[in-house]
Amino acid sequence: MIIIKSKRELEAMKEAGKIVAGALEEVRKAIAPGITTVQLDQIAEEFILGQGATPAFKGYQGYPASICASLNDQVVHGIPGSTVLKEGDILSVDIGAFFDGYCGDAARTYPVGKVSPKALRLIEATKESFYKGLEFAREGYRLSDISHAIQTYVEERGYSVVKALVGHGIGQQMHEEPQIPNFGPPGRGPRLRQGMTLAIEPMVNEGTDQVRILDDGWTVVTQDGSLSAHYEHTIAITDGQPLILTQGE
Ligand code: MF3
Ligand code: CO
Repeated sequence: MIIIKSKRELEAMKEAGKIVAGALEEVRKAIAPGITTVQLDQIAEEFILGQGATPAFKGYQGYPASICASLNDQVVHGIPGSTVLKEGDILSVDIGAFFDGYCGDAARTYPVGKVSPKALRLIEATKESFYKGLEFAREGYRLSDISHAIQTYVEERGYSVVKALVGHGIGQQMHEEPQIPNFGPPGRGPRLRQGMTLAIEPMVNEGTDQVRILDDGWTVVTQDGSLSAHYEHTIAITDGQPLILTQGE
């Protein structure tokens, strides 16, 4: 069952979303050659706690940190550690927070210093694929119209969408129904209704869509070692334009 949120609940989700956006912004400002991913985790965690919110990932199914920091060929769920960022890397940062009982979840891929045009193109295409999907996040469409728009855009550019991981409904739980694949035929799945809140999150690989999990049990990497990028917002379906909840001010 997809849980429809009331106006009051959407307000709480907006607050949670603002905190997630703020945490991402703090991390973005700190990213530079020489910093470690565990330092970025600390920056995000302090920000979240300072806002009176709680990191959503820490302790989730045993996950040990407040952010996911996924470097280069790492797709998602990279565990922050002593890895030192260097010029030319790309880092996907995923952050979730609970505020007032509601969850916000968002991710971005950031360049470290000056990166190759090829890496920048991947980052841009991943972001743009989210916005292509978002065009269908409206009443009158079905869920898989979002999925289809993302896949079409990504594949037109010669990239692949990861299929082993999906976006999700979100609210009082980080993961609610429905699952939101970033691929598939249009016109399937539930009809979109005002008050649905969704985390739409394309994960895009330069090469094959195949992924594997490292021995740490979390880190998802591309099978062929090619670069991967991630872009995620928590959004709400309204009676008009979709509302991005994880937006800064
Ligand atoms: N954005 C990710 C998701 O929606 C975050 C989960 S990572 C975990 O699934 F560390 F919390 F597991
Ligand atoms: Co998510």
